Amino acid sequence: MENFKKEIAGLLSPHLEMSEEEIFKNLELPKRLDQGDLAFPCFRLAATMKKSPALIADELAGKIASEKYEARNIGPYLNFFIDRKILAETVINDILDKKVTYGSSDEGENKPVIIEYSSANISKELHFGHIRGIMIGSSLYKITNFLGYKGIAINHLGDYGINFGKIITAFMHWGNKEHIEEVGVRGLLELYVKFNKASETDPKYMEEARHWFYKLEEEKDPEALELWKWFKDVSLKEYNRVYKIIGCHFDSFDGEAFYSDMMPAVRQELLDKNLIVVDEGAEIIDLSDENLPNIIVTTSQGTSLYITRDIAAAIYRKNHYDFYRNCYIVGSEQRLHFNQLKAILKKMGYDWYQQCEHIDHGLVMMEGGKISSRDGDNIFLEDVINTAIERTRNIIEEKNPGLENKDEIARQVGLGALAYRELSNNRVKDYSFNWDEAISFEGETGPYLQYTNVRCHSLLEKGAYEEGAFDGSYLREESSKELVWELGLFPSSIRAAFEKMEPALLSRYLMGLAKLFNKFYSQVTILTEDKEERAAKLALVRAVSLTLETGMGLINMEAPKKM
Ligand code: ARG
Repeated sequence: MENFKKEIAGLLSPHLEMSEEEIFKNLELPKRLDQGDLAFPCFRLAATMKKSPALIADELAGKIASEKYEARNIGPYLNFFIDRKILAETVINDILDKKVTYGSSDEGENKPVIIEYSSANISKELHFGHIRGIMIGSSLYKITNFLGYKGIAINHLGDYGINFGKIITAFMHWGNKEHIEEVGVRGLLELYVKFNKASETDPKYMEEARHWFYKLEEEKDPEALELWKWFKDVSLKEYNRVYKIIGCHFDSFDGEAFYSDMMPAVRQELLDKNLIVVDEGAEIIDLSDENLPNIIVTTSQGTSLYITRDIAAAIYRKNHYDFYRNCYIVGSEQRLHFNQLKAILKKMGYDWYQQCEHIDHGLVMMEGGKISSRDGDNIFLEDVINTAIERTRNIIEEKNPGLENKDEIARQVGLGALAYRELSNNRVKDYSFNWDEAISFEGETGPYLQYTNVRCHSLLEKGAYEEGAFDGSYLREESSKELVWELGLFPSSIRAAFEKMEPALLSRYLMGLAKLFNKFYSQVTILTEDKEERAAKLALVRAVSLTLETGMGLINMEAPKKM
């Protein structure tokens, strides 16, 4: 589509007092396919040209004659109809040439874009609720890099705070190293639960916890530090296992503790900039002129808080990465926190506060409550993943018992189902997860997308597809025209997903493409006797498959060739 836009801008510009670039920017996609392929709005010209937009469009249509483009005036728009044969050949050949790079770009010019996601709290398990942020962040990171930006994935670990004092205390009383090594984070969680129980009846435990936290943070006591490091290792070992299964990557695990040494400097800067008010011994920032509640940045005991570490982290990230966008993929419940953070950065005089974006998301709940949870109310993410794979394995056994590599394909499809389920909803929406809905091979699901691609592969195999020139005039049915047109929109759907940091725009694009393909498949005979005709249709099938595979990769889905 881009090339066509450029050419049309070139055709129009001699007739208008507008640069090609400006015309390019103004070209839109018509709402409906029968209204053409590109539309140029003439409203804005009316004032300077002193004519009605419809008349301008009509006159322009008369002046622009080309074999490739038919220009027609539709209301206040000048609409262009691209010759179907040329459109099909251009779009499909572009995809066949570029293959897995179709839709990618260097427009990001290597500008650094931080995608902070997952940001797990050490010593706590990854539970089902975490899947949303992990899927969104991992997808956005891939999309960011695909567009030529330099993605930086940061896991801002929650590895600081009084909780560590509590767990050290519990470990000292009841801990068993071997047990924890064996069961992992669950063992730390048990300690945490024990601590809470014990401290309900005896205040001495809380005192001890404060003491350990002090030793850890202020005295850098070797024993406390070693335990803290070990808790972190135990937790990360488990997180990394889950991250690896999902296929997500992090460039940095700099968490809250990483910034603790920077606290005095941040405090000093806030004091120097006259932003601190002392209230009952605590230091607060007044945010009333930003219509936000005031916030404590240093407690009366002199310790820093969550927000203080985020101030330090933002400044550090600006200095260290010089980000173009700094995106926090964090649930909507922290909206106030991020609004306050941005307001503080603004007050500190950092105009780049505007480049800090809270990419918020809603909650996911498990319909019907618990599943196979081994521990209390929490549903472990790893259990959900395993269940997804197991359920998929059962469906395969039922539908296609003769399939080779059933375990591997069950893994790809089960995970794909979870990924699509998370990414097809607008990220801000809450929703409840239902197993049958997610894993089904029919309806708007991950397996449906994957199955569509499998169908492409089996056609290519049956028709003995060979790469080479083809004649686009064979793609004349309505359903193949629609499909070609949709294929041309892939790059812009990726770009839109990046701009809005919304993977759903890409997920839904892919679903639309898959549906159009299946319509084409049911209406058109693809494997015709006529060799030339078959070659053209298979070229289209191949282009669909390449696009689906690339797109699925960007939303954390793998693409099996059989299922
Ligand atoms: N660890 C926090 C939590 O689980 C999320 C951290 C979000 N990121 C940040 N920069 N504050 O609630």
